[in-house]
Amino acid sequence: MTARPYVIDEMISAKSIAARIEELCKEIQREFHDTNKLVVVGLLRGSFVFIADLVRELDLPIEVDFLEASSYGDGMESTREVRILKDLRGAIEGRDVLVVEDIVDTGHTLNHVTHLLENRRPARLKSIALLDKPSRREVDFKADWTGFEIPDEFVVGYGIDFAQRNRNLPFIGKVRFTDVG
Ligand code: PRP
Repeated sequence: MTARPYVIDEMISAKSIAARIEELCKEIQREFHDTNKLVVVGLLRGSFVFIADLVRELDLPIEVDFLEASSYGDGMESTREVRILKDLRGAIEGRDVLVVEDIVDTGHTLNHVTHLLENRRPARLKSIALLDKPSRREVDFKADWTGFEIPDEFVVGYGIDFAQRNRNLPFIGKVRFTDVG
């Protein structure tokens, strides 16, 4: 996608992420303390690292499922179309569901997925995003839990890519192009 040279500056350390996940899991456990079996749904691909750490910290009976969505911007309009590339394996009707996302940017993806899953009549549907960029929002959506609110920076790592690279960094980093002054 780009041949521009860049470096990655650490923005949120692996230690800070782990500490925040511990806090979030306590809140999630309070919400779902009475659950029979929580279905934790990861939105591919960006959430794969976050969901792996989150479920290992959650002291609840859970199942894990995945859904892949892709969103298309349209230069002429502010609306975005979100397509489901891979649907859940299991039914969620009557189930408690937690949707796990890496980042909420314009909000279209999580907003669309939440409505889609609500239509399947889960008992409870909640969402969690590790990162939130409220300044970029195009639809009125807020996850039930957010790890960190961040400014409009180009972030990578901990599952998040830049042209499919850097997903495997253990921390959240900020891309800094080195060909500008
Ligand atoms: C990214 C990210 C979120 C979405 C957030 O996914 O993982 O799913 O964009 O953006 P939004 O709030 O503007 O909808 P991407 O389409 O890059 O796919 P990926 O998860 O496979 O990297």
